[in-house]
Amino acid sequence: MCGIVGYVGPRLATPLLLEGLKRLEYRGYDSAGIAIMNGNGVETRKAPGKISELEALMTASPVHGTLGIAHTRWATHGAPNFVNAHPQLDCEERIAVVHNGIIENGSALRQALEDLGHTFRSDTDTEVLSHLIEETYDGNLEEAVIEALSKVEGTYGIAVVSTDDPNKIVAARKGSPLLVGLGEGEYFIASDVSAILAHTRQVIYLDDGDLAVLDRDGYRIIDMNASPLTKDVASIDWDLDMIERGGFPHFMLKEIFEQPDTVKNTMRGRLLPETGTAKLGGLNMTSEELLSFDNILITACGTSWHSALIGEFLIEDLARSPVEVEYASEMRYRNPIITEKTLCIVISQSGETADTLAAMREAQRRGARALGIVNVVGSTIARESDGGIYIHAGPEIGVASTKAFSSQVTALALFALKLARLRGLTELEGKHIVEAMQKLPDQIAEILETAPAIEEIAEQFKDVTNFLYLGRGYNFPAALEGALKLKEISYIHAEGYPAAEMKHGPIALIDENMPVVFIAPHDSVFDKIVSNIHEVKARSGCVIALTSRSEPALAGKLDYEIRIPETIDMFTPILASVPLQLLAYYIAVKRGANVDQPRNLAKSVTVE
Ligand code: M6R
Repeated sequence: MCGIVGYVGPRLATPLLLEGLKRLEYRGYDSAGIAIMNGNGVETRKAPGKISELEALMTASPVHGTLGIAHTRWATHGAPNFVNAHPQLDCEERIAVVHNGIIENGSALRQALEDLGHTFRSDTDTEVLSHLIEETYDGNLEEAVIEALSKVEGTYGIAVVSTDDPNKIVAARKGSPLLVGLGEGEYFIASDVSAILAHTRQVIYLDDGDLAVLDRDGYRIIDMNASPLTKDVASIDWDLDMIERGGFPHFMLKEIFEQPDTVKNTMRGRLLPETGTAKLGGLNMTSEELLSFDNILITACGTSWHSALIGEFLIEDLARSPVEVEYASEMRYRNPIITEKTLCIVISQSGETADTLAAMREAQRRGARALGIVNVVGSTIARESDGGIYIHAGPEIGVASTKAFSSQVTALALFALKLARLRGLTELEGKHIVEAMQKLPDQIAEILETAPAIEEIAEQFKDVTNFLYLGRGYNFPAALEGALKLKEISYIHAEGYPAAEMKHGPIALIDENMPVVFIAPHDSVFDKIVSNIHEVKARSGCVIALTSRSEPALAGKLDYEIRIPETIDMFTPILASVPLQLLAYYIAVKRGANVDQPRNLAKSVTVE
């Protein structure tokens, strides 16, 4: 959501911080700000809007210094404007704070601080922190931060600087990701490794309750009692070009086109063609343990939840194990049946989604074993889960998830195959599935070649106001995902439905103005979906169909046709998702929308 970056070292901080903010802009982007120690004290610049607004302001009115902190905001408390942008200052403007997360007892603390004479300028919960630190400051910044944070309820990743301690950045984490970057004689703090990847790949991930104190001579990690902690230094294996657009007009398009490689990367070294199974060392479980669970619960949000639905179908279909899928945000607040015999699979691209993380912790609290299917290495879900599968899709910057979806489904297929082979799926059946999986990267590449034709179709629909996406079986979740992609980046209202459910209500919407996307590959429910297509045509609806072969039954019934290669039923959603991503992308671009940074959205939703 919001993003933090901080720097201390010999170089000028402003360009480094602006560069870091630009790389974080995908996380949240309604305002931004910087605090620099300029030799006399804290000097700030803030601007509503994109980072480019802040950059223009800093060009017109530069600030020079070699230590600073910066923030890109996604509003929670208070409108996205100048006063609410971070950094937030104390009364004397000697302390500057940037903050990701939510201070839940912010109103009560604010009242108490106002009663003590503090004057607030913003509507943010963050400003409470700067005043609290001011109130507790007694010559040592980290001690003041610790004391202030001990009064706070909620979540935070913060970075703090002070005029009275001008060579120091103090950072702290509880529930909102933060890492320390170690350069040559210079140190960074960041909420996301992409902010600092151009300068270092050596990082220390902070855990909840950790504080980092960075100065010109080094860094210290301490706990809330100020006792020193020893932490491992991790090496990031992402390259800089992985977080750049590489000639594509948008990250989303680049990421769609990466899918032949990313799906291959998810499978790499994990398929065992000779025995028709998969090898998944990261599960940290023996075969006996894998067989010991009574039920599987998969939890996730958004696109990852759509992957979860496909995972349910895969695991039940292949392994005949009972699976339930829960929205992470709902699971936490009801009373689901979770025991020590439950395997909880947690799916998250970012590994930081607050609802998903909380659902995983709740499942673990109830005794379940948690497996993470995660993209971002070192993320909180990856670190706190009991094992899992990294999808190895590389950084996903576009807010609309694309390559993570195909890789999540691929990872779920690997898991389902492994479990199924343990539970009686024959070697021959396993080999058949492995063969189909191995073809997927080339089949995705084949679909990508049809991008120009999909762009032409998009031209016809750029001005519509509604869309319906229909699919059956494995492609019902693909329909949900297609609709989500379109609505989040084009702002066209779109709904996904199981195709047969249409006649129980949504059919009332069908007329000549309603485009209906059917996912209709030649699978086991093809005949059924043909009937649904006829039902739409009978009401003058406009049909765009994803098909896998020429079908006489559809002659004259399709207004537009997009061809996908044939595969076995279970992999059709991976192939179908690619043209649906492209369709959404081109429609959004033709409507003039900012596809990489859609309004109101953030890449990683780290608040509940
Ligand atoms: O990082 P996560 O996979 O946990 O994120 C979950 C959702 O927030 C995410 O998939 C969201 O729905 C995307 N905008 C979808 O494109």
